[in-house]
Amino acid sequence: MNGLFITFEGPDGSGKTTQIQQLANSLIKLGYDVITTREPGGTRISDLLRNILLSTEYQEMKDQTEVLLYAASRAQHVHEIIIPALEQNKIVLCDRYIDASMAYQSVGLGIDQKTIKGINHFASSGLQPIRTYMMDVSVNESKNRLSKRTNKKGEIILDRIEQKAHDYHKKVREGFLQIANKNPDRVHLVNANQAIDVISEEILKDMTKILENRYV
Ligand code: TYD
Repeated sequence: MNGLFITFEGPDGSGKTTQIQQLANSLIKLGYDVITTREPGGTRISDLLRNILLSTEYQEMKDQTEVLLYAASRAQHVHEIIIPALEQNKIVLCDRYIDASMAYQSVGLGIDQKTIKGINHFASSGLQPIRTYMMDVSVNESKNRLSKRTNKKGEIILDRIEQKAHDYHKKVREGFLQIANKNPDRVHLVNANQAIDVISEEILKDMTKILENRYV
């Protein structure tokens, strides 16, 4: 596989989606073959699982079910979309991956790391990104940004995970910071409080270095 697998992580409202789009546009302009995708989701089956995971209708969901559904969505996505794209030498930019399960399900829900790692190793056949852009933002700022996502009636729209308590989201952020600390070679920590263009420049600069060292 000669492609490059890049992931974006961080708390809800950290601006991952905007940055993925900016990076994809810049790389496409430079002539690279790029696909953008996201988890949970990215395939027909994974999108169905995304609806079950994020719908506010299923508050009865057990932690074990949540872990396995995220992993099931990932298994389909990795094997149907990501690996074939990497085999075609593409750059794959993915909105969330296994780090999200380590932060939201292991640290957030208090499920031991070994279990989450094992399940996700099986789901992904051990596929790891070469670089992860970890967008860091405080829980208060994240809440503030999410409160601006309203429907036509002016009501704030939050999914089942976003609706969880402040303390849960504090643990999730800590989880992401721990991952960044433990994996300095893979994870590039980004201060997501900066202006959008400042952040995208920082990410593009780092990506350019990776590309210089590797023919895609
Ligand atoms: P995301 O697509 O980032 O949300 P949005 O569409 O609002 O930008 O992620 C969906 C939610 O799923 C998010 O709250 C994080 C959560 N999540 C996990 O808890 N575990 C996982 O493994 C993944 C991939 C996401």
